[in-house]
Amino acid sequence: MEDIIIGVVGLVAVLLFFLYQNRKTKRYKLPPGPRRLPMIGNLHQLQTTNPQRFFYGWAKKYGPIFSYKIGGKTMVVISSAELTKELLKTQDVNFADRPQHRGHELISYGRRDMAFSHYTPYYREIRKMGMNHLFSPTRVATFKHVREEETRRMLVKINKAADKSEPVDISELMLTFTNSAVCRQAFGKKYNEDGAEMKRFIEILYGTQSVMGKIFFSDFFPFTRYVLDDLTKLTAYMKACFGRQDIYLQEMVDEALDPNRAKPETESMIDLLMQIYKDQPFASKFTTENVKAVIMNIVVAGTDTAAAAVVWGMTYLMKYPNVMKKAQAEVREYVTEKGLTFIAEDDVKNLPYFRALVKETLRIEPVIPLLVPRACIQDTKIAGYDIPAGTTVNVNAWAVSRDEKYWGLNPDEFRPERFLEKDVDYKGTDYEFIPFGSGRRMCPGMRLGVAMLEVPYANLLLNYNFKLPNGMKPEEINMDVMTGLAMHKSEHLKLIPEKVNN
Ligand code: HEM
Repeated sequence: MEDIIIGVVGLVAVLLFFLYQNRKTKRYKLPPGPRRLPMIGNLHQLQTTNPQRFFYGWAKKYGPIFSYKIGGKTMVVISSAELTKELLKTQDVNFADRPQHRGHELISYGRRDMAFSHYTPYYREIRKMGMNHLFSPTRVATFKHVREEETRRMLVKINKAADKSEPVDISELMLTFTNSAVCRQAFGKKYNEDGAEMKRFIEILYGTQSVMGKIFFSDFFPFTRYVLDDLTKLTAYMKACFGRQDIYLQEMVDEALDPNRAKPETESMIDLLMQIYKDQPFASKFTTENVKAVIMNIVVAGTDTAAAAVVWGMTYLMKYPNVMKKAQAEVREYVTEKGLTFIAEDDVKNLPYFRALVKETLRIEPVIPLLVPRACIQDTKIAGYDIPAGTTVNVNAWAVSRDEKYWGLNPDEFRPERFLEKDVDYKGTDYEFIPFGSGRRMCPGMRLGVAMLEVPYANLLLNYNFKLPNGMKPEEINMDVMTGLAMHKSEHLKLIPEKVNN
């Protein structure tokens, strides 16, 4: 009997909650969108594979701004350059917050990082420090030798495979490259690539990245408390991943604090953060938790993004052999003319077609296709629609970079020449091309991100011709994305390299 009474009371409470929610949202003229079911909203319609394509389909149906619901939460998606400008320039301050996410909250040590921090005075201080020091052009240049050395290490492995005419896993190679380069830049650590420490680092990193991409019921159905997260074992998974992350990062902090530690080859990023910890220049206290939170951002953002971009680039080049030939010809003629055997970072400025190729790669598959979600701070209007405070807003950069108004009738065609014909850059002021976002929360690691991808990408083109294995045809390559914040190609790209003598 008692159970029945509790059940009935629970049901009435849930119904009252949704009646209240409905009354609340009815006051607003929300952007158009698909019909919703009571309680769950549009949860049943959402697709987890290729969400950027799925939302592009909804934009075609409902327009460049549409809304949908998950539980009691309103979500808005922007898919045009004009509205991106409205959001990220005109109303940038009002959308400079990040939405509620239980996983982000935990892995960022209660939002002490940069990427998931709320828009607070602390955030503004840490962001300024990041722009002036952590990601400054000087600091990015300090690690040039690391990125070049790691590229050479990758080429040695490909050469071995080429000698045996065996396929290489470009996805795996690129992740190893970025993992190694990031460990050296962030912690001054040079791990053996196949050693236990590197394996441990990668496992921890994957755990943290996967928590970032999970959907937590408690964020959308707060009245369930954590019951559904617990039942689906999400809570336990999140805590286990965070536990491993924390032990590792604490070890890095302890090492950096050790007075007997050997001086690293170059001051690493954690050394800089430990200096802030010692100097305490901010209004609020900068603890070792803050150090771990910020370094977590660097490690996650630095490994995933550049690797994903090069893999997408190589995939499209396999589908567009004429573009491949042109890009290869440019880098090969350049090294012959200069008497080089390697494309270094400083050479890239002399390779206009290659630079256009990098931009086209980031246009056709922006690796964070839905950017990092923003949250609306105060009630406002966009395109005549109400956007209530607390609404989560995503910019579908993948859709924006296919806007026919800016990109012509064939936006799905991989054509680097677009960027030779018109002067468009990814620096956040051309709103039709925003792979790094724009405005106050634009990617602060853009320079480093580009540096991380250019040298390996250019040297792949310089040194090898590639074939698909097992007689596979280019049109058979699977183009699905692996869902997460940064979206990789879900199936690894495997290619047979053939050495070229330049
Ligand atoms: C190809 C490489 C990269 C791409 C495409 C990329 C893209 C992005 C995007 C789209 C955002 C969200 C911007 C917004 O909300 O408007 C972002 C944020 C961020 N990125 Fe990157 N990123 C890359 C590399 C990096 C690297 C190498 C780092 C650091 C090591 C980094 C650190 C960050 C941080 C800390 C944020 C959060 C900024 C904030 O909220 O203030 N990124 N990135």
